[in-house]
Amino acid sequence: MAHEAIVRAESAQALTEVRAGFLGRKGSVSGLLRGLGDLDPADRAERGQQVNALKQRIEDRVAARRSDLENARQASALSSRQLDVTLPGAAPPQGHLHPLSLVERDMREFFAGLGFSVEEGPDVETEYHNFEALRIEDDHPARDMQDSFFVEGGHVLRTHTSPVQIRAMTGRKPPFRFIAPGRTYRVDHGATKSPMFHQIEGFIVDDHTTFADLKGVLHAFARHLVGDDVRLRFRAHFFPFTEPSAEMDFSWRDGWLEWGGCGMIHPGVLENCGIDSRKYQGFAFGMGVDRTAMLRFGLPNIHMLFDGDLRRLEQV
Ligand code: PHE
Repeated sequence: MAHEAIVRAESAQALTEVRAGFLGRKGSVSGLLRGLGDLDPADRAERGQQVNALKQRIEDRVAARRSDLENARQASALSSRQLDVTLPGAAPPQGHLHPLSLVERDMREFFAGLGFSVEEGPDVETEYHNFEALRIEDDHPARDMQDSFFVEGGHVLRTHTSPVQIRAMTGRKPPFRFIAPGRTYRVDHGATKSPMFHQIEGFIVDDHTTFADLKGVLHAFARHLVGDDVRLRFRAHFFPFTEPSAEMDFSWRDGWLEWGGCGMIHPGVLENCGIDSRKYQGFAFGMGVDRTAMLRFGLPNIHMLFDGDLRRLEQV
């Protein structure tokens, strides 16, 4: 009878109640034990053993049923909470480098392959490094308040990366080859002009450097940036710190894009850095970096690079 009641209990709660019905303080088996006092001592011991054995059997069956119920509960919980391991995982948001950082790193890598190392200079530059040592005369337009951001105390926000030439060459003995990427500043604004922009400077000094070497390096660089069939165009130009000087363009779609300036380092600049210009020559070039990033990522406006709009940068 107890066995059937136990097997019929469908939950842990029901099982607890069934057990109490037999073994609880007021349960029927407990009642049997209480009745023992009325028996004569000879029978009492034997009867007591029988009731205790019964008690134990009921306990065992209750325990067995309890564990069956628990196993069934777990099995049904498992089957109702199945895990589909083929579902795509939740992708955590992932950042990436700014387009300008990507382009600049790529340029650094390219020039590292040609044996150039990286040199840096300050954004707030002395007028000596930015102008004088580069032979830029007092009446040059770049020295006008209209074109350059002057800071107190003979300083200026560097208008180009060329002052890094002076810093890198002074006190060093050729041969050497450097690039100097960085921020530059001019009083200028428009769809393709920003008062802060980026240039990369490159220069070599050695005892047999020629304009042909300069063209070779620039051509390799242009091919790296634009593609193997790119063409370069050099236009005679004037810079106070190079002689001869040229501006260069590269072919783009049906026309030409202005790229930057270049030339053979002026002997006077070498001398300003303590380098014997009868023994050594060098070439230098400098070009904008932002335009390259705009071309590569198809940005119509330079300010997209600088306004920090994440929605836009994430599309890049
Ligand atoms: N510094 C020049 C400019 O900003 C570019 C240049 C660099 C020209 C090196 C010649 C040699 O316009």
